[in-house]
Amino acid sequence: MARIAIVTGGSRGIGEAISLKLKEQGVTVVANYAGNDEKAREFTERTGIAAVKWDVGDHQACLDNCARIAEEFGPIDIVVNNAGITRDGTLARMSYDDWDDVMRVNLGGCFNMAKATFGGMVERGWGRIVNIGSINGQAGQYGQVNYAAAKSGIHGFTKALAQEGAKKGVTVNAIAPGYIDTDMVAAVPAPVLEKIVAKIPVGRLGQADEIARGVAFLCSEDAGFVTGSTMSINGGQHMY
Ligand code: CAA
Repeated sequence: MARIAIVTGGSRGIGEAISLKLKEQGVTVVANYAGNDEKAREFTERTGIAAVKWDVGDHQACLDNCARIAEEFGPIDIVVNNAGITRDGTLARMSYDDWDDVMRVNLGGCFNMAKATFGGMVERGWGRIVNIGSINGQAGQYGQVNYAAAKSGIHGFTKALAQEGAKKGVTVNAIAPGYIDTDMVAAVPAPVLEKIVAKIPVGRLGQADEIARGVAFLCSEDAGFVTGSTMSINGGQHMY
């Protein structure tokens, strides 16, 4: 029987690449999305992957939608917490809402999705949770106290939940992407982005598929002994 996966923010950018890669591996994928109905419809038509709309920052919406997906498709074996937003700005210019939106979606979303699915994975003795962190959660980034804090929180969340899942067949890992060629990175002002790319040893932005391949490995049967780890995929921009 095919494994069932939910990929949050799974119809665009890195999430789309992850949805497609997991499908390629024989997984039944449901992509969550938050905003653009038109793009989601186009995504489903093109890929055959179901797309379901809800806000991962909304706790009850996560519980309700995961329950409905489990009813329709079967028990959820794999969750990829990929949904993320930016509200960049220096602290002086950052509003409380900029802080709160990013914490609620990027970090709160991981908690909400885990609450909705981790118990079932433990009961069935198998599960994979992959959380998409960020190089900027590891190293910090000028203009991103909100995003860096949320992503850094994801790395702590991953290590704590991994300990709870370890004896139950449920692995919890993170990937820390560097700068990947997506709409989110394209929104960084060109002169700022140029300076960032100049500091990437590999000399280019990453591709979404390069993140998806890492996710596919962490979700596979082969990765059962990998838990609580963070896989950095960043072209050598941050090494430690
Ligand atoms: N370190 C130190 N100083 C810096 C700096 C840095 N990294 N970046 C900018 N500054 C300085 C500038 O030199 C400038 O100084 P002066 O006023 O003395 O000239 C000052 O800070 C203001 O810089 P900006 O003109 O850039 O300020 P701004 O207010 O117009 O914009 C900003 C601020 C919105 C944060 C902008 O710098 C920016 O967008 N930075 C990029 C943030 C970023 O990398 N976001 C990543 C988004 S993608 C993502 O998050 C995905 C992922 O996981 C990797």
